[in-house]
Amino acid sequence: MRLLKAKVLRFESLASTNTELARLAGEGAEEGLSIVADEQTAGRGRLQRAWSSPKGGGLYFSILLRPTIPQEQWPLITFMAALAVGDALDEAGGVHTDIKWPNDLLSGERKICGILAEAIETPAGRAVIVGIGINLTQHAFQPELANVATSVSEASGKSPDREIILAALLNALARWYSLLHEPGGREKVIAAWSNRSSYATGRLVQVSNGDEIWQGTTSGVERDGALRLNTPNGEIRLVRAGDVCSVR
Ligand code: BTN
Repeated sequence: MRLLKAKVLRFESLASTNTELARLAGEGAEEGLSIVADEQTAGRGRLQRAWSSPKGGGLYFSILLRPTIPQEQWPLITFMAALAVGDALDEAGGVHTDIKWPNDLLSGERKICGILAEAIETPAGRAVIVGIGINLTQHAFQPELANVATSVSEASGKSPDREIILAALLNALARWYSLLHEPGGREKVIAAWSNRSSYATGRLVQVSNGDEIWQGTTSGVERDGALRLNTPNGEIRLVRAGDVCSVR
């Protein structure tokens, strides 16, 4: 059993919680070290995008992990993180979420949370920083994104308590991370993720990855977390990177 003991450092303002935690990991920080910032001035998202992080808008959180599962399973760390955020929002935010591959949390088809997992080299070995950004209020993002983004306050109709959501998130991360390290944990995490994602099977999607765009119907995920896509010409494509959007 792998115990995850989180120790949380709090900051008023940081460029990025992921960047600061990577620095501390390089200095030998232990697994479980976590950072929360009230605001980020250079918050980062997937695919080199910026993550808007104004004060009072969201939960901006990163945790350092030093997984001992085989490296080919590391993509499942984002799966377990998405499951943990889903639990935390259910239990402490009053919001039921869907997961869009690989790790966006949606409420009513709009994004409520993003996850950025970054593998880094440290003197103590390869590690992962899992960064989680949860929109707590509508202030988290620009008003023009209101058709694609939402927040815990909008989705639940209540004013969210960041600390209660954070406590639930830490508990849920400990549970799912421990499960991932157990024998058969990989299968359980994939099964739970697939159960909670309306994108896992039978969904007509478009995937864009740089200059490439594919369309197809999803048909589950591989053992390493890659999304299987049945394309119109009968091929199966495995998607390991890119943006997925629903085609209606
Ligand atoms: C995405 O959906 O593109 C991922 C967004 C991840 C944002 C979080 S906020 C906390 C952590 N620090 C960062 O700079 N990014 C992540």
